[in-house]
Amino acid sequence: MPSTFELVTDAEDDAVDAVYRAAFAADGLGVNPRFREEQLAMHRARKGFTLVGAAEAGRLVGFAYAYTGDRGQWWHEHVAERVSSELADTWLGGHLEVVELAVLPEARGRGIGAALMTALVADRPEPCALLGTGRRPSPARRLYERLGWIELQHDLDADTSLYGRLLR
Ligand SMILES: CC(C)(COP(=O)(O)OP(=O)(O)OC[C@H]1O[C@@H](n2cnc3c(N)ncnc32)[C@H](O)[C@@H]1OP(=O)(O)O)[C@@H](O)C(=O)NCCC(=O)NCCS
Repeated sequence: MPSTFELVTDAEDDAVDAVYRAAFAADGLGVNPRFREEQLAMHRARKGFTLVGAAEAGRLVGFAYAYTGDRGQWWHEHVAERVSSELADTWLGGHLEVVELAVLPEARGRGIGAALMTALVADRPEPCALLGTGRRPSPARRLYERLGWIELQHDLDADTSLYGRLLR
């Protein structure tokens, strides 16, 4: 099937929530039942928040979002407690924090995930980007590595690896 998607800046919460639930459930990944009301609403208010969407025939089929990570935020502290001081000094604080990436199952394998991740990190002021992803082999891990992300710490916690990418 040809790639007919277009990238859009931001999307309605309802559509983002629907893509998140369908994409994560399809892969047997944990779904936050309060994703829209708590997580997305809180993250939208953070400095540097950016959401990139992919739409096909007017329908959202994928999205990725990020913000500028900072001290005091839950994930910043979670990482800071688990990495070496050298790693923290180089990567943590003022980084771009990539929080979610999701593509509907029926729209996968056509470069939408790669296009979303590429657009999300383009022209950012942050020097580097970080994300957490599952430790087991997955399409997401392959995608990140293909796009130049490196695994900084495999066992960030029981389930998650820490990935980073320099942005300049
Ligand atoms: C991870 C995820 C976003 C990837 O989305 P996607 O749109 O399928 O990503 P891409 O199409 O860019 O890449 C996926 C595959 O398609 C292939 N591909 C990319 N462009 C292609 C194209 N134009 N034509 C054919 N295949 C293509 C890639 O080689 C890749 O193959 P591989 O995984 O076997 O190495 C999607 O699988 C998903 O939503 N998973 C569940 C949620 C999740 O894991 N999120 C990340 C949590 S950290």
